[in-house]
Amino acid sequence: MKKYHFTILLFTIGLFISSCTTAEIPLEEDPDPINETITYVDNVKTIIDNNCTTCHGAVNPNAGLSLVTYLQVRSAAENGNLIPRMNNATNPMPPSGVLPAATRAIIDKWRDDGFLEN
Ligand code: HEC
Repeated sequence: MKKYHFTILLFTIGLFISSCTTAEIPLEEDPDPINETITYVDNVKTIIDNNCTTCHGAVNPNAGLSLVTYLQVRSAAENGNLIPRMNNATNPMPPSGVLPAATRAIIDKWRDDGFLEN
């Protein structure tokens, strides 16, 4: 009986510790480095259109956040929560789960390249 309680205690402590680890997940698979310059028109728009605009469209968007135009996406990435939420393991965008590391790496590179449109 005592041993049983000890096991439960260890289990609870384990749960507590694992829930304290950072929510932001790294690009775990270490995708190939991106050598090309990333632009909104060539690379980013397709990712947003395929994964975000069903909810963040022009009409009545979720969270009041429309991700339809270049300036809207740039503003959300530069000044808002777009990048942290796309990399947030516990509260990801899209809500169905984080996108593949290679896809998220494209968004990171877009930021590093200065959020270019073309
Ligand atoms: C199934 C619907 C759905 C999809 C698809 C979706 N979102 Fe969201 N998004 C929401 C909802 C609902 C909220 C508000 C609740 C919350 O913050 O979790 C939200 C909130 C956000 C926020 C926070 C807004 C703020 O003001 O802090 C960001 C940023 C965001 N989404 C970006 C994205 C991006 C980028 C994608 C695509 C990669 C995406 N979302 C895909 C439904 C969605």
